[in-house]
Amino acid sequence: MSLQIFLDRLDQLQSDAQNAFDGAAGIDALEDARVTFLGAKNGQFKDVQKMLGGIDSADKRTAGMRLNEVKKAINDAFETAQAQLDSGGDSQIEPGFDPSLPGHQPQLGHIHPITQTIDHLTEIMGRMGFEVAEGPEVEDPFHNFVALNIPEDHPARDPLDNFYLATAGKSADTGEGDALLRSQTSTVQIRVMQSRQPPIRIISLGRVYRPDAPDATHFPMFHQMEGLYVDTNVTMANLKTVLRVFANNYLGDDVEIRFRPSFFPFTEPSVEVDFLWNGSWIEFGGAGMIDPNVFAAVGYDPEKVSGFAFGLGVERLCMRRHGITDIRDLYSGDLRFLQQF
Ligand code: PHE
Repeated sequence: MSLQIFLDRLDQLQSDAQNAFDGAAGIDALEDARVTFLGAKNGQFKDVQKMLGGIDSADKRTAGMRLNEVKKAINDAFETAQAQLDSGGDSQIEPGFDPSLPGHQPQLGHIHPITQTIDHLTEIMGRMGFEVAEGPEVEDPFHNFVALNIPEDHPARDPLDNFYLATAGKSADTGEGDALLRSQTSTVQIRVMQSRQPPIRIISLGRVYRPDAPDATHFPMFHQMEGLYVDTNVTMANLKTVLRVFANNYLGDDVEIRFRPSFFPFTEPSVEVDFLWNGSWIEFGGAGMIDPNVFAAVGYDPEKVSGFAFGLGVERLCMRRHGITDIRDLYSGDLRFLQQF
């Protein structure tokens, strides 16, 4: 056999063995590779070693020296690969993994500030005996307007001031008029009074929709907290007390409350509700004594029952309490903002 062929064969063996050891994924695979290349019986190195006998005697010395070099190189490659797997401990751990480094922190979500506010308001009102009622966000004109004493020609029903839906959604109760996204939670007053008899003490917290251009204080979707109290001999003093106790619980003991005369079709008399907080009066919503026409629309006797209702802006309450200045931040989905609450 020629010297050159022998030397080429050794080079090939060395690189094959090196690749096999480096690529061994675990201790078992490395042992298999060791037997393949260095096995005493049928190992590939043994095979090549046997060929030394066929080399011309003039070339034997060169061939023998190279054989020893390759044997050492293959042994070294095996030991290096073995040491690397051992230091990893677990044979499945990738090289370079450092188990002493801190792990990746999973990002935990949390409750949105408006939902937190809703929970808080529910808890405060619950302590005063108000239970939670819910109503649909897609409403019919009967609940959003008619039963609330808002006649057909009233400006509040203007298509430009409401999100009317396609004509397919006819009112289930009256069979007429287009469905719309409710513009106020006062719709729930009607639904509750239609389904039960006084005494009634409920709140309803949920989304309402109005086609307002978004700015720092307006958003086409926002939340209201509606309150409804119906019993015998309910007075405006009861209304003011409930709202004052609420304001003191939510915003602080020093908060004062003020009623300004106003108008809503479904309350008489009607007021705007302001809270004095940090030195300025801020309007938080509307309220009033239930209009007799509303009681009549739900089948109550206005001569026998009386009640009050109020509707407060949830975003406004949340923003005041947390010092938020732009309503759009609440709905931007920006985690840098949301994570602060
Ligand atoms: N629904 C009224 C609004 O959205 C608020 C209100 C509720 C007023 C209940 C009086 C009584 O502006």
